Amino acid sequence: MSVKAPRGVNDILPPDSFKWQYIRRKAEEIFELYNYEEIILPIFEHTELFQRGIGETTDIVEKEMYTFEDKGGRSITLRPEGTASVMRAYLEHKIYGQSQPTKYFYFGPMFRYERPQAGRFRQFYQIGVEVLGVDNPAVDVEVILVGFQILDTLGLKDCKLYINSVGCPECRSAYREALKDYFKPHLEKLCSDCQRRFERNPMRMLDCKNEDCKRHMEKAPVILDYLCEDCASDFDKVKSYLDLVQIPYEVDPGLVRGLDYYTKTAFEVKYSKLGAQDTLFAGGRYDGLGEEIGGKRVPGIGFAMGMERLILALKYQNVELPINRNIDLFITTIGSKAEKEAFKYLNQLRRAGLKAAMDYMGRSVKGQMKMADRLNARYSIILGDEELDKGSATIRNMETGEQDEVKLSNLVEEMKKRVK
Ligand code: HAM
Repeated sequence: MSVKAPRGVNDILPPDSFKWQYIRRKAEEIFELYNYEEIILPIFEHTELFQRGIGETTDIVEKEMYTFEDKGGRSITLRPEGTASVMRAYLEHKIYGQSQPTKYFYFGPMFRYERPQAGRFRQFYQIGVEVLGVDNPAVDVEVILVGFQILDTLGLKDCKLYINSVGCPECRSAYREALKDYFKPHLEKLCSDCQRRFERNPMRMLDCKNEDCKRHMEKAPVILDYLCEDCASDFDKVKSYLDLVQIPYEVDPGLVRGLDYYTKTAFEVKYSKLGAQDTLFAGGRYDGLGEEIGGKRVPGIGFAMGMERLILALKYQNVELPINRNIDLFITTIGSKAEKEAFKYLNQLRRAGLKAAMDYMGRSVKGQMKMADRLNARYSIILGDEELDKGSATIRNMETGEQDEVKLSNLVEEMKKRVK
């Protein structure tokens, strides 16, 4: 049997890859409007970064990481997400010493050993943004606006924002106790993960995927009732900024996210028609992450958007991205001398910035014409051995059928004039 790609891993082939390129370009235009700069991160990191950053008791760290020992005996992990790496890079390069805030964006593959299903893969692509060095709640809303502007530019509608505050370590200690009091009588009925998390990190129990456990979560105390003054006031500010820019939202007190680094604002934007995997982009504030990974306190907020899910949602909504794969011209040749000479002109035309093609498969003239049609060429240049002797070629407008004979020495200029 021939070798196949591993489960949960996709090839992105044309024409889909054109959609990816288009989305990336559009996202970059928006990052420019908001003044975000690209950070290019490593694909793998020391395992410890994710253990400390994402949290030992999260599903990602407990079950989903691609971890291996390298030849030097170090534990290495393929990145399951980008935020921990961004914080590491920010601390490692002392970016905090520069004028703040720091606004980054990134693109790239992430790796999680999850059960593959529609919209969930083991290698998936994220578009992410992170703003570091500022704790103003206005920035929380700016980040959400960036995500929405990407969706709007692509023409995706009906996406809904859910927000919550997950507080800070101060409000969480009282909340932890309330959760433990609530869960204690039900503990035996909960899954083994929840039983373990009860002692180590009861808030993680709220993110349990087990259906039986989920039923117990519904009546659990909510963090919003335990917020300290500072967290409550910041959450109010976030809501007031959302009102100011007229972004509708729903407060979901059960929204806790699957990563431990979150503090205060947590949010998810969903496109409900996607089924179980309906979150298009999600994120929140992570003011404690810098310290968790052994650095200093650095306020931060960001989100990541799943490319595959975005594309699924666009397909679902029948959004046709305006992708132009047409070429400017196709050189049709008649005779072997012309075929060789055409290669030289093809090169000159491309050097002049024209999208040009010719046949390499020995097709008949009719076959070449068909190929020009298939490639949606605007013009065809017809070059025969006879014309070559005369030093001329024919340019045919493929739409109107109009033909002109031009001097070969002027061919590039003549084509540039027409295509512009
Ligand atoms: P996350 O919620 O784990 O957050 O992932 C963000 C988005 O990545 C999801 O909403 C989804 O669109 C996509 N995604 C996640 N897992 C998969 C998967 N297995 N297959 C396909 N798509 C997936 C984070 O990763 C945080 N780093 C976001 C963040 C940035 N928070 C603050 N800054």
